[in-house]
Amino acid sequence: MKYFLTTAIDYVNSRPHLGTAYEKITADVIARYHRLKGDDTWFLMGNDEHSQNVFKRAQEQGKDPLAYCDEMEQAFRETWAGLDISFDDFIRTTDRRRHFPAVQAMAQACLDNGDIYEGTYEGHYCVGCEEFKPEKDLVEGLCPIHKTKPEWIREKNWFFRLSKYQQPLLDLYARQPSFIEPEVRRNEILRFVEGGLEDLSMSRAGQSWGIPLPFDQKSVVYVWFDALINYAAAVGLGWDQAQFQSRWPANLHIIGKDITRFHCVIWPAMLMSAKLPLPGQVFGHGWVFFKGERMSKSLGNIVDPLDAAKRFGPDPLRLYLTKEVPYGADGDFTWERFEEKYNADLANNLGNLVNRVASMSERYRQGQVAPAGARAGGLADAAAAAVAAYTEAMERLALHDAAAATFRLVSATNEFVASSQPWALAKDPAKADQLSGVLYDAAEAVRVAGLLLRPFMPASAAEILRRMGETRPADSLRLADTSWRTDGIKHVLNSGALWPRIEDKGAIVVSETPTPETSTPAAAAAPATTPAAPMPAAVPAADAAPVAEPAYITIDDFMKVELRVAKILTAEKMPKSKKLLKLSVDAGEATPRTILAGIAESYEPEAIVGRLVVIVANLAPRPMMGLVSQGMVLAASVDGGPAMLINPDPAVPGTRVR
Ligand code: MSP
Repeated sequence: MKYFLTTAIDYVNSRPHLGTAYEKITADVIARYHRLKGDDTWFLMGNDEHSQNVFKRAQEQGKDPLAYCDEMEQAFRETWAGLDISFDDFIRTTDRRRHFPAVQAMAQACLDNGDIYEGTYEGHYCVGCEEFKPEKDLVEGLCPIHKTKPEWIREKNWFFRLSKYQQPLLDLYARQPSFIEPEVRRNEILRFVEGGLEDLSMSRAGQSWGIPLPFDQKSVVYVWFDALINYAAAVGLGWDQAQFQSRWPANLHIIGKDITRFHCVIWPAMLMSAKLPLPGQVFGHGWVFFKGERMSKSLGNIVDPLDAAKRFGPDPLRLYLTKEVPYGADGDFTWERFEEKYNADLANNLGNLVNRVASMSERYRQGQVAPAGARAGGLADAAAAAVAAYTEAMERLALHDAAAATFRLVSATNEFVASSQPWALAKDPAKADQLSGVLYDAAEAVRVAGLLLRPFMPASAAEILRRMGETRPADSLRLADTSWRTDGIKHVLNSGALWPRIEDKGAIVVSETPTPETSTPAAAAAPATTPAAPMPAAVPAADAAPVAEPAYITIDDFMKVELRVAKILTAEKMPKSKKLLKLSVDAGEATPRTILAGIAESYEPEAIVGRLVVIVANLAPRPMMGLVSQGMVLAASVDGGPAMLINPDPAVPGTRVR
């Protein structure tokens, strides 16, 4: 089946941010899912360049607007490459070969069909929205989105007869309810169109930055009328009729909830006027906020998606945004939550599972696992159920549900391994077949999960498949390959940890899990600035199989420990103690605390007065040497060597550390 999907094309007056990246990532997951299904998929993205804001930004930088757009194209392409976005085509609205002829053909067709006429317009124009704003939509005279005062514009314009399409649009929504998804957006649009439509000013006079109207060379096409046509322009409208006929209409337009009126009202009306087929569906996704706030330059809270991709590879971010934000609803991003989910889903759950299965297969079967006659534990059924739930969810674009279904299979497989206790089976030669069956089934379940994860985490999934003995290229695999296989030996590869845990604000800690038989050293910490290699992380393989469920604590357990920044006010040696210093510290409370700290062998008291430290503030007070120590100071020591105080970067005493 042919499947053509698009994203909104981005204004290039600023660099891509996490919000615009969210849209591209989700669309990429859908595109990759269709490729996995075997559809003849075409995924289009692009840049929207004829905006006044783009023109202004170029002027501010003293650059020719086209040269500026060329530069920005590179920035966008670099970001999309860094996030592993697999578009098939990228269109720019300054493309003279493809976009100009399409826009001119469309404008001419609308004129020829009697839907474009000349008139005068006056109103409030918001350049940020590139839209005239009705008085009633302004809040205290300002655009409610950009919080800026719109310009009052009066000019002779060409109008598109949008009002004529009120009933045809209502008929479309009734005939094809899935034309607008999700339902909340459909209802908004229905209410809006039922309220009546005004004709749309579709040209701007006296501007040079834009596409000239074929019937009035002094006017350029209004930026939204121009931009919407990109979808048809890319596939041949006005310049390659054969290609256009083979690809158009698009099956799906993925856009943000702020631009649904353009896509669900104006765009289908334009197509109706030009007598062209309508797209199958418009999906208006929600917005991603940063700590609950809209990302904006003025608030200084723009998150660069490449930051996360450079540190952890693109896949953890892709998974976070698609799994944690119900598709269609708004979502929030914080680094804390991202790291928490990374540790829970990837380091602890999926990564640990891949590692356990691979290391045990290597240890007990030299990496070669054969299916046992009888299936152990019903994992095949769990896998089939996951595939069914995943497919059903993907078909209704519930990306979060599809990801959750996959992770249910991962958890079930982890539980299966824990309850089957391969390490115990390995001790009993009579249970050799059973052990093989357990390892095979676990590896097969991980292979199925890996295949389901392919759209979400392309590189990681390919690596998981490889480790689970898949020899065919990941790109050649299809959804049908998720069916449970028992047709031969698997060569499972043990290549080390995939996702080292992130500890404490971005530091990556690789810990080997102690096994019941061997006790391995606890942790080797990488400095916070060391990026984890995207995929796979360069972590040496544990040669003893990590087979027991690690003794993790939950985030709630951790949050019980109240770590706070404190300042050392006084420090003195304790008589009769070689190790202890008596400290008085300001932890942001009404009175200073007394803490006895075992750091006398590392520090002279006077050298640490004024220094900031981290203390455990809710440790039970402890009587010591005739005093009561009210907390503990954190210090690190290498192999029992001198204690080194943990140094919080400038922070105010009392600040919570987490
Ligand atoms: N150029 C127009 C679209 C024209 S489509 C024919 C435009 N550009 S934009 O750069 O402002 O936004 C591009 C897309 O990113 C839009 O779909 C918009 O909704 C989306 N997002 C912008 N910020 C976003 C978030 N914070 N979160 C999620 N999506 C966001 O609009």
